[in-house]
Amino acid sequence: MKGSFIVIGDIMIDETWLCECDRLSPEAPIPVASLIEKEERLGGAGNAAANLRALDGNDKTPIILYGHLPRQYKEFTDKLDIQLPILPNTNNASANIKLRITDTRTGYQIVRVDNEQLLDKATLSPNENTETAIVQSITDASKKGPVTVIISDYGKGYITPRLMRRVMSCYDEMTYIIVDTRREDISMFQGVDWITPNEHEYARMCKELGLLPNFHPENLHTFLEVAEIHGIILTRGHRGMICQADNWRAVLPATNAKAIDVTGAGDTVTATLAYMLMKYEKMHYNTMVRAANVAAGMVCEIQGTATSPCSAEELLYKVTQEDKF
Ligand SMILES: Nc1ncnc2c1ncn2[C@@H]1O[C@H](COP(=O)(O)OP(=O)(O)OP(=O)(O)O)[C@@H](O)[C@H]1O
Ligand SMILES: [Mg+2]
Repeated sequence: MKGSFIVIGDIMIDETWLCECDRLSPEAPIPVASLIEKEERLGGAGNAAANLRALDGNDKTPIILYGHLPRQYKEFTDKLDIQLPILPNTNNASANIKLRITDTRTGYQIVRVDNEQLLDKATLSPNENTETAIVQSITDASKKGPVTVIISDYGKGYITPRLMRRVMSCYDEMTYIIVDTRREDISMFQGVDWITPNEHEYARMCKELGLLPNFHPENLHTFLEVAEIHGIILTRGHRGMICQADNWRAVLPATNAKAIDVTGAGDTVTATLAYMLMKYEKMHYNTMVRAANVAAGMVCEIQGTATSPCSAEELLYKVTQEDKF
């Protein structure tokens, strides 16, 4: 079964400078970092799309990405066969960069530098033409097969209430719509299929909805009813995840004790859920969320923003092997 994925949201560039830090500066009590290697990876919505490609194995499922990414980074999406239909008009647009300076020996970050303040906010949100193109692309894709939409909202400006209204106006054309958002007011996501907050985001959303932020699974049920959302994966870092949809629920401990870098693990969860929902429609939610938990655990073992090192099929094999013991 083919289908397509459309990822819409804030694209970041996660840049890492791997440095050797073995002496203190004579100028101030700070380490001197000697640069060994620079790395750049897609973050945010870009990382969700990259995870979908990693899960896809050799399937070549169309993945379309909408977000603000200057053209000099287009080679990143080209390499992963991710379509990026809209590029900024100007040649000198800046990307949203998170630079992490990391000690190669310990793996610890020494400092993170964000350039967000320098970006021209007006260019980060989609204009009406872009919104029309997004809606059209959902309609076009739906004529060829199922369409799963991921909204990756890091609160940087791409996801707006107006854009969401337009996306939700093609509700019948989307097989699934899955939202990962940092926003506390989630009223604009009413009616979506799944939401994947971490526990801090969830607590803030509960407060905004007038609910007590209690992590008992019973409360997730109430959260879903009030928010008018079908299902939730509440990610809890090293404590794993709690999931709820209808009368089904699952509480999963984290799968991995050797986590060294949790950057982007949430994107892996959202992408794995989206992938499983669309590609394995008859599968029980339990298997899907276990696969997402395993994938996120593995990503935490890799330095920097990473994508699932296993395809969806390999993940499912791992999950079924676990059942045998
Ligand atoms: N320390 C850890 N050990 C093992 N697994 C982890 C650890 N931290 C995160 N995970 C896995 O990754 C999932 C998502 O992590 P987390 O709750 O940190 O997401 P997040 O805060 O949304 O991350 P992101 O920065 O990508 O938005 C967890 O549910 C768990 O499966
Ligand atoms: Mg997250």
